[in-house]
Amino acid sequence: MLSESARTEMKTTMARYPRARSAILPALHIAQRQIGWLPNEVMDEIARIFDMEPMEVYAIAGFYNMFYKEPKGKFHLEICTNVPCMLRGAGEMADYLQEKLGIGFNETTSDGVFTLDHMECLGSCATAPVMSARRNQSAWARYYEGLSKEKIDAIIAELQTATELPPDHDESGPYHHDHHPQTNFLLARIDKPQSHTMASYLADDGYETARKTLQMAPDEAVGIVKAAGVRGRGGAGFPAGVKWGFLPKDVTPRYLVINADESEPGTFKDRLILQYDPHQLLEGAICTAWAIQAHYAFIYVRGEYAFAQRRLRTAIAEAKAKGFLGQNIFGSDFDLEVIVHSGAGAYICGEETALLSSLEGGRGHPRLKPPFPAVAGLYAKPTIINNVETIAHVRHVMEHGADWYRQWGSERSPGFQLISLSGQVKKPGVYEIPYGTTLRELIYDMAGGTLDDRPIKSIIPGGLSMPHILPDKLDTSIDFESIQAAGSLLGSGGVIVLCEGEDIVPLARRTVSFYREESCGKCSPCREGSGWLEKVLKRIEAGQGVPSDIDRLKHITKYIDQQSFCPFGPASVWGLQSTMRLFGDEFAATIAATNPEAQKPTIPARPTYRQYVGQPLENKLDDED
Ligand code: FES
Repeated sequence: MLSESARTEMKTTMARYPRARSAILPALHIAQRQIGWLPNEVMDEIARIFDMEPMEVYAIAGFYNMFYKEPKGKFHLEICTNVPCMLRGAGEMADYLQEKLGIGFNETTSDGVFTLDHMECLGSCATAPVMSARRNQSAWARYYEGLSKEKIDAIIAELQTATELPPDHDESGPYHHDHHPQTNFLLARIDKPQSHTMASYLADDGYETARKTLQMAPDEAVGIVKAAGVRGRGGAGFPAGVKWGFLPKDVTPRYLVINADESEPGTFKDRLILQYDPHQLLEGAICTAWAIQAHYAFIYVRGEYAFAQRRLRTAIAEAKAKGFLGQNIFGSDFDLEVIVHSGAGAYICGEETALLSSLEGGRGHPRLKPPFPAVAGLYAKPTIINNVETIAHVRHVMEHGADWYRQWGSERSPGFQLISLSGQVKKPGVYEIPYGTTLRELIYDMAGGTLDDRPIKSIIPGGLSMPHILPDKLDTSIDFESIQAAGSLLGSGGVIVLCEGEDIVPLARRTVSFYREESCGKCSPCREGSGWLEKVLKRIEAGQGVPSDIDRLKHITKYIDQQSFCPFGPASVWGLQSTMRLFGDEFAATIAATNPEAQKPTIPARPTYRQYVGQPLENKLDDED
């Protein structure tokens, strides 16, 4: 069933990777582009091409949400209803879409034009509510942002008769962004016309820093980044230069992997760099690859970022044509290949070892650490994994030096950072701020305050998985240590603002639903526990909660937090634990108001012999459960 051109494209792609199996995700993308979905016969063919067992290919395809196991309509519409979108009316838009199309989620209209689904988070929380549209049998996909009923009417009317999707941001430009008066470096170029092109980048002295870096000894470059104290911007905040220093001496090959799997709800800053200044990232990648002496750099981009991938691939082709990538870059004897690797819809692949499993051609399952990737990472070789923004910082540190970088922030959190601000604020967007800027300055001075000037109920300062903090912490400095002292973590710098008037129970349930859906299933505390949490919270929402549910939730979250295999487990429950700590009265009041008699709900029971012989099993919840 695979066309000859699809087979050829697969084989060409296999040859680009150090190990052919890494091309399994690209191959599945190629097949789906040709056929529109992935029938078993096609996966059998792919298995033969890769010399794998068919079952392995089924298992891989089954892991990733973006690989379809059944045909879809011509346009696949996926609306995000995750928390930042939910806070801006996504629920109503999701209902309206269903009503307008006359179908539910995971259904296709009878004329075959539309399939409707959920997708979360789309990394566009500042333009919420947002929907992705993908043209079946095409690599073409785009976002529709700031949805309203009128916009949905217009989109459906246009697509009903369209053969292709209209262009993405080429016309509408970058979404809202701003910067502190002192720090305009990472975002400095993105408002320029054609900022994504080589011509625009060269006009701003682009690639001069990379050229200069290649004149240095690699250890000198590592020393500059270490002295600057650049901390990782993907979530953990580990100092980049220190991580680079863990590479074992004289073990080659080494790899650079750039994590562009930006999937933490409330985080959308890397997308701005990828779409509007990809050469900034590539220049940072060259500096980093030289410092660590890697000849391959992989940029793992989440599958939903189709437009960003397109821009990045074009930028790489431009850089190759100029001799800035490929063999003997800048006339030196240093070679560097950069490969864009598309994910396929799995949040867990943002975790570095899960990303490596995925990049090696497997399900995105995390690995036990140690060994850490710097010692044994991709293909068991020394590997440095850094986030997109971290690599962009490297480019500026290499230009200006460590002392320049340390003029901002504190000893342990030096420099500046991109903050993704979403939720109920007047001007959601990406803000470039020096560490030390307070949450109050960010929310009130830069973003104009809250919607309708409502009082703030809570703030999530580091992406959805981080604990909520109360508005009495508004004068907290935005830096790693201060946010931690305030009771949360800076994480990926995704600040989500929630105003008074929002109910905490549905928000907590929506948060848990996301992590339940995205659990990779490797360990049982996370896989089973997240499902139990969701069931209990849904029961409370449905008016069937009982007072003992509060302790039940605490008990389950404790075990997920302490017993999970990888950091996903703890992070999946911090939000719920914090809301129960800060708004425990609200959980209790919801239960008391909706189930005043404390009627014990019927809980689902495993099928038993008695059920098969027609005696349904009634299973009442006991306090000891
Ligand atoms: Fe919807 Fe981020 S795009 S929550």
